[in-house]
Amino acid sequence: MLTKTLRPQPRAEVMAIDAYVPGKSDVAGLAKVHKLSSNESPLGPSPRAVEAFRAAGADLAAYPDGSSRLLREAIARRYGLDVEQIICANGSDELFALLAHVYLSPGDEGLYSQYGFLEYPICIRAAGGVPVIADETHETADVDALLAKVSARTKLVFLANPNNPTGTYLPFAEVKRLHAGLPSDVLLVLDAAYAEYVSRNDYAAGIELVATSENVVMTRTFSKICGLASLRLGWAYAPAAVIDALNRVRAPFNVNGPAIAAGVAAIEDAGHVATAAEHNARWLPWLTEKIAALGVGVTPSVANFVLLHFPRQAGRTAADADRFLSARGFVLRGVAAYGLRDCLRMSVGTEEANQGVVAALAEFMQDGPHDR
Ligand SMILES: Cc1ncc(COP(=O)(O)O)c(C=O)c1O
Repeated sequence: MLTKTLRPQPRAEVMAIDAYVPGKSDVAGLAKVHKLSSNESPLGPSPRAVEAFRAAGADLAAYPDGSSRLLREAIARRYGLDVEQIICANGSDELFALLAHVYLSPGDEGLYSQYGFLEYPICIRAAGGVPVIADETHETADVDALLAKVSARTKLVFLANPNNPTGTYLPFAEVKRLHAGLPSDVLLVLDAAYAEYVSRNDYAAGIELVATSENVVMTRTFSKICGLASLRLGWAYAPAAVIDALNRVRAPFNVNGPAIAAGVAAIEDAGHVATAAEHNARWLPWLTEKIAALGVGVTPSVANFVLLHFPRQAGRTAADADRFLSARGFVLRGVAAYGLRDCLRMSVGTEEANQGVVAALAEFMQDGPHDR
């Protein structure tokens, strides 16, 4: 007989998950803030994408094309890829969840690096897998440390390149060395959410590796340089067998119609993407230099954000800086959940935001310690 206290129980591994906490977007009492907590584009989306989104609003009664064909074709044209090896999703987050769901059986291990993106352990656990963490060196993924953690249960390796929240990257030669060291039944997921910002000639997002192997997937997003985070649009380039498996389990209409339309327009507006990359190329080194000159440590970044390191001295800590900057309308990202308690992550913002943060940090570091 059922007792009265019986109630539905989530799987134990689900309750072991710490829910993802998104970046803050406001400050109580302040009408205007600069949100620098989610690595969004300070330039916003292409006007053509906004126009396409609005036009799609005229047809909201119809289901979207469940295969996102027009968007896959636009991506294929832009990057010279086989349209059948592209899958679109409700943000690249959805792809990580699908990949874990499809490739991890209970007890299988999903491997990632120490400061790797926090969505990875969430997806690994949700799929019944075991998250395994490899130490980093100088806040950068370490191929030898990753390979040393590979076991007979490893089925998935997630590598954000460049990584969030550190902004560091692995040269393509290192990514290839990682791939070469993995057993062929381990799937390597190259999360290239910030690829468009990288201007290093030893970097590659991973297209070549996907094209030449059976066990590599590259994921990309429209949330960052395309400025479409709100629409939730991501895609992956993967071997046909991986695409086939993902298509069996994804929701049939996982990408909505306005997102497909805006995504096509965004990817075709190469000029807008280039302008956003130029803005970043101008302000990333500026922020790095100015902030470091104030005595705040800055991890060298190739993405659209910087990781700032504050002293442990009372009144000058990362938490103190967060309060100080928030009160002045600059919302950065606390990264204690990554074990980076002394750090804040700051997205490259508009000129006004960047200059404002540097001026506020100068005040914070020069005056006596702040604890308010
Ligand atoms: C490394 C990394 N991958 C993926 C994402 C998520 O992208 P999407 O908005 O497409 O889900 C983010 C977002 O912050 C990220 O930092």
